[in-house]
Amino acid sequence: MARLRTVYNCGDCGAMHYKWAGKCDSCGAWNTLVEDVEDPNSHTTLAAGMALIPPGEAQPIGKLDASVGQPLSTGISELDRVLDGGLVPGSVTLLGGEPGIGKSTLLLQLLASWPTRSLYVTAEESAQQVRLRAERLHAVRDNLWLVSEPSLTNIVAALDKVKPELLVIDSIQAVADPALGSAPGSVVQVRGCAHRLVQEAKRRNIPTILVGHVTKDGGLAGPRVLEHVVDTVLSFEGERHHALRILRAVKHRFGSTNELGLFEMTELGLVGVPDASQMFLADRRPGTPGSVVVPTLEGQRPLLVEVQALTNAMSGNAPPRRSAQGLDPGRLAMLLAVLERRAGISLSQHEVFASVVGGVRLSEPGSDLGLCIALVSAVTNKPAPSDLVVCGEVGLGGEIRHVGHMSRRLTEAARLGFTKAIVPTHSQSGAANKAPAGLTVQTASTLSEALDLAQLSIKK
Ligand code: TYD
Ligand code: MG
Repeated sequence: MARLRTVYNCGDCGAMHYKWAGKCDSCGAWNTLVEDVEDPNSHTTLAAGMALIPPGEAQPIGKLDASVGQPLSTGISELDRVLDGGLVPGSVTLLGGEPGIGKSTLLLQLLASWPTRSLYVTAEESAQQVRLRAERLHAVRDNLWLVSEPSLTNIVAALDKVKPELLVIDSIQAVADPALGSAPGSVVQVRGCAHRLVQEAKRRNIPTILVGHVTKDGGLAGPRVLEHVVDTVLSFEGERHHALRILRAVKHRFGSTNELGLFEMTELGLVGVPDASQMFLADRRPGTPGSVVVPTLEGQRPLLVEVQALTNAMSGNAPPRRSAQGLDPGRLAMLLAVLERRAGISLSQHEVFASVVGGVRLSEPGSDLGLCIALVSAVTNKPAPSDLVVCGEVGLGGEIRHVGHMSRRLTEAARLGFTKAIVPTHSQSGAANKAPAGLTVQTASTLSEALDLAQLSIKK
């Protein structure tokens, strides 16, 4: 057997270096090289693994059987929504998320609702711990098999014995192949084990889910190469202090990545939230200055969220504080500049706090106008009408720009009892005619016009 050599792998991109350096040559990241031992089989594992998969045969595309590879429902409707139907046999899904967000809980619930035999490999917790949690979640089923095992060899042996039709590995960073020599969680191990599990999934034609930890900045820990070898990458997000959890597809080979799943963490595990708008608006106090409801779109899903602003006049020369929660701070700074130059509303001597309620992140520019109105409402201490929703992108010239899928947003607003909407002139030429019942739609082409419509204009 070849002697093991010390190498340095980049924790970000997985590139291997024979000498330590402060910067990875391959991806340019700093301080990411970690000591490791060279993968003795690096040149042979792939080839050996390929032999596991039957040889491919070229055929005219029309002759291929489209029914193979149809997704199987997971039994959890919010998860099916994100996966565009369910899990495809032979596919590998990577589920990433911060510790404690609920990955193990979600997967245990999935395993319990899976109709055929499934295997849960826990490489981090003891079997007893998982059993206790399963009891609390009412997830103890005859079909659900459990093994607490970090060794890849033993995991493959368990697969041979149990012959499951769904495999979950919690987590890929805790699994190690004894043949590889380096420590669990190292780039060599994570990459090697993931490759092997992908091959096993394809060979056995079973859907496989790998749990992946994320780093402080939200990226998946371990080599980025993991994202390339799997078919689907899901990200489970949420604020730790909120019960809301959002599941998104970052990559999905079998469908769109537009859908979003919403869950609430409860005593009995994760519960799907089919009516998210209602949940977000439940604690709203209409009539408070600085609060505006925005009909936003997350993927294909309309969501009504409350945007809040608070301003405080400051004296002195220190630059006043700006804080943006659930919003891009750069966008907030831009909108403050536009308000000053195009609408004559200066907040340069005010502290500004802006936030989106409920642990949601608003990234679409369609929320610009709502934020501007919330800011003006806060600084003038005048509430915006409580039955109003506002949607529009704000340009640098103070113009209100087009936003897509307006009718879907307005229908959601009408469903929740809102009666007024301010939207861009061009989103809805004709939308005023097609406005959903009960909703009066007004259009604005500039920020000043929109402020007039919201009864917030400042007389100069
Ligand atoms: P967990 O699934 O262990 O997170 P991860 O696998 O992503 O690290 O979830 C941990 C948190 O979820 C824990 O802080 C407790 C909470 N929780 C509930 O609130 N209700 C429940 O029914 C369960 C099982 C967990
Ligand atoms: Mg866990």
